[in-house]
Amino acid sequence: MRLSRSCAPGLRAGSKTITKESMSIFPTLRKIETYVLENYPFMAGGFERGRTEFGNEWEKAFEETLSAVLLDDDALFKAADGYVDFAVDALKLHNRFEKEREYVNKTYDEAAKEVYHNPEYMHSLYLPGILLSHFLWPHHYRQRLFFEGTFLADMRRAKAVAFFDIGIGSGYYSRLMLKALPGARGHGFDVSESSKAYTERQLDAFGVLDRYEVRLGDITQGDPEATTRWLTSVEVLEHLEDPITFLKGLRRMLESGGKAFITAALDAPNADHIYLYQSPEEVITQLLDAGFNIEQYHLAAAYVPKQRDLSVPKIAAFVVT
Ligand SMILES: C[S@@+](CC[C@H](N)C(=O)[O-])C[C@H]1O[C@@H](n2cnc3c(N)ncnc32)[C@H](O)[C@@H]1O
Repeated sequence: MRLSRSCAPGLRAGSKTITKESMSIFPTLRKIETYVLENYPFMAGGFERGRTEFGNEWEKAFEETLSAVLLDDDALFKAADGYVDFAVDALKLHNRFEKEREYVNKTYDEAAKEVYHNPEYMHSLYLPGILLSHFLWPHHYRQRLFFEGTFLADMRRAKAVAFFDIGIGSGYYSRLMLKALPGARGHGFDVSESSKAYTERQLDAFGVLDRYEVRLGDITQGDPEATTRWLTSVEVLEHLEDPITFLKGLRRMLESGGKAFITAALDAPNADHIYLYQSPEEVITQLLDAGFNIEQYHLAAAYVPKQRDLSVPKIAAFVVT
């Protein structure tokens, strides 16, 4: 589904939230919000919710990302179109999931072909969709706050000099670490050329690409040659047929005394979600079986369900050693 991009970016008549004053403080955020309000009014709630729930810090962080990565109106509006398509796909799949309570049956190879190795889909929909969801989906933004308050704070205190990011996707978490730790080098691992290119573009825009390198390849068995004290893997577990083998690989990559930040999406159908987690306990069991110790964890729902028995997409994030 795609509506026309006919609106001129600017203030929306009658909008209570987009004032001239705020337009000048966060101009790129205002521009994309106005575009979404005009073209996809059913999707505009994410902006209002972000502002109401997280306030000025959210606006500042969102503006920083948009203005660095999406350099002109065309890139900004294309990213908005991609995000809307990504979110609408997820909504449609969720409606089906509500009845079936299982993900669409798909092998890893099928998902990889359809998504990770499909540059058109990755660049027009998937990667901008993920990037914007980090701000427009409250449970994703809460995950960032948890990450910053725990794992990233620990990295700062320890003056971490290197990290691995497994399944880099948009590159967002790699960027947060490189920006927070000016002395650190990062290594990203991903199977997708498109994720590599999108990540490198973001890191270049933030001036940190010279401290980063991406290793392309399938990481489901881990990398026996590579070890680190700091490791993240954000939203990868649910993409795999056998997350336990993957977790055991990650455990081997973590040096003694090291720490990892690992997350999983629960009840969250998507084009490339294969392994269905329905409770944080299922992830906890797998983490323990893989040899990790759990230090703390965070669970956040996308929204409050209208009825108790309705399923809601959630994310569970773990700090493990
Ligand atoms: C949902 S994205 C991760 C989101 C990302 N961490 C972010 O914050 O933007 C999943 C990523 O995992 C990668 N991936 C999937 N299977 C993989 C595998 N077997 N080995 C390495 N990377 C894989 C995909 O290419 C994709 O970039």
